[in-house]
Amino acid sequence: MIGVMGSVNADLVAFTQRFPRIGETVHGKRFAIYQGGKGANQAVGVSKLGKSVRFLGAVGNDVFGDFLLKNLKEAGVDTSFVKVVESESGIASIWVSENGENSIVLSAGANASVNKGFLKGKGDFFEGLDYLLLQLETPLSGVIKACEMAKARGVKVILDPAPAEKLPTELLEKVDYVTPNEVEISAISKGKKLLERIKNLEKAGPRVVVKAGNRGVYFLEDGTLRNLKAFSVKAVDTTGAGDCFNAAFCVALSDGLNMDKACEFAMAAAAISVEHKGAAPSFPNLGMVEEFLKERKGEVERDEA
Ligand code: RIB
Repeated sequence: MIGVMGSVNADLVAFTQRFPRIGETVHGKRFAIYQGGKGANQAVGVSKLGKSVRFLGAVGNDVFGDFLLKNLKEAGVDTSFVKVVESESGIASIWVSENGENSIVLSAGANASVNKGFLKGKGDFFEGLDYLLLQLETPLSGVIKACEMAKARGVKVILDPAPAEKLPTELLEKVDYVTPNEVEISAISKGKKLLERIKNLEKAGPRVVVKAGNRGVYFLEDGTLRNLKAFSVKAVDTTGAGDCFNAAFCVALSDGLNMDKACEFAMAAAAISVEHKGAAPSFPNLGMVEEFLKERKGEVERDEA
């Protein structure tokens, strides 16, 4: 069983040829509302890949809250630990450009209630978990507490430090894997070069996987920096690709795959996701990832960076 604690957002997405400059209005091409939020996305990603998953988080008592809960349930996520709170729901206002890049403004809403106090009496959530997925769209005090509660029960923790904020050592020393992108690792670790940043972060405890988009992933193996190059795909919408990666990485690790193979599996899932619109709705099921890996066998180049 995999657990996810984190944010749930309604993603209000405007697809546009280009982003407006300050003070400018541009015509959009399409608008859509999707279930999003880094936490909820990771939970849906795990479920689509065929693993049982339970989610801990909060939605507001508004029309978006109903929509978000319904979507999580329909995706097969156990929502019995999701609380409906007196607040608006989390909202992500997203622009997606023609080449698939995005800009996001987050309004935390109900996600802001998922703090240390929220975890009081929630021990049952952590019982029987093999892995716990965490991100940083809910308050850090809750993330630290969840990590402690997971560790006390022998649950392995994967932390996605997004959006990036300074992480205390008391948190990092309890995390098994941390998965920043290149911007995030610069914010949470010291060092001039990537290798130095990864080494500094690993000194605190976790293994580090750096998600570098179309340049693939970087990680340390016996002190050497390894780079797995990304699959070549045409990106339509990169929103949630990092969440898809984390969900698939966790599924692969829980199936016993080693670092190299787990990263390859996760890159395949993320590559499929960027070829479709939306975050969670674009995530593949297990059959799709297996088919993709079969078709693209041998494509991933492995370098010592
Ligand atoms: O990682 C993508 C997610 O970030 C979106 O779904 C949006 O809700 C924001 O939280």
